[in-house]
Amino acid sequence: MLQVITSIEDIKQRIKTFKENQLSIGFVPTMGALHEGHLSLVRQAKEENDKVVVSIFVNPLQFGINEDFTQYPRTFDNDCELLSKEDVDIVFNPKASEMYPNGFCTSVIMERIEDRLCGKSRPGHFRGVAVVVLKLFNLVNPDIAYFGQKDFQQTVVIKRVVADLNLGVNIKVLPTIRNKEGLALSSRNAYLSETEKNDALCLYKALIKAQTMVNAGAKNAKEILGEMEKIINNCKSAKIDYISIINPETLESVPEVRKGDVAALAVRIGKTRLIDNTILFFIMAVFIHLI
Ligand code: PAF
Repeated sequence: MLQVITSIEDIKQRIKTFKENQLSIGFVPTMGALHEGHLSLVRQAKEENDKVVVSIFVNPLQFGINEDFTQYPRTFDNDCELLSKEDVDIVFNPKASEMYPNGFCTSVIMERIEDRLCGKSRPGHFRGVAVVVLKLFNLVNPDIAYFGQKDFQQTVVIKRVVADLNLGVNIKVLPTIRNKEGLALSSRNAYLSETEKNDALCLYKALIKAQTMVNAGAKNAKEILGEMEKIINNCKSAKIDYISIINPETLESVPEVRKGDVAALAVRIGKTRLIDNTILFFIMAVFIHLI
């Protein structure tokens, strides 16, 4: 049965019991407003661990002053219902006042990677993410933690922090879940009108274009980005924040595409900022010799 835990002391006690009984812990950190993307992480965690903990915490530290912290969708009862159906063991729903008591001032700086891509228009965002994930890892002490590929830069930042600070948590990144038209599922899709949802498909179309060009032999990143930009700019309500083809570890823009590089973009549809990405692959030409 799903247990809701709100205090740091209680989660520590519960985790201690799991560890004493040598039970492995799978962890899915979230900000709630759960959708099929989150549930795909939960299902994988269920398959691979004895116990599954999901955190629901809208982390104030990762929102800028003019961002959507207050509007961010909060659907706690519905989230718990969904997690109950998935047979999750614990929902950890801490209070901001306990996570960040008066005097809290510690941060995590990830030189070179935090200021690229989303970090440019969301200064401080990834420090906020790194701090909360680090705190949650300390409290939940998971064997494996699960994240979605949609937040590609976030996964790179978290892997870096885990490696650099020897956290000993196995990070698994699972594919982006999309609706049947191709729109990447996101809690922020709740802000979109029906027309905007349709407009938002330009992100997916631009990524498909990049992959199609790579399949056809294109390697020049500028040329590919140009075609992606045309697709986005064709949509009146879309405003590009960035479109980039990057090295998946350094997040640096690449002039020439190599296998495993990532096409990533952030686009405003009306007032809503959406992100998406795809890992570019090359289809090998196969020659079949008939004897
Ligand atoms: O991806 C999210 O929902 C958040 O950034 C995370 C990882 C739960 C940290 O608040």
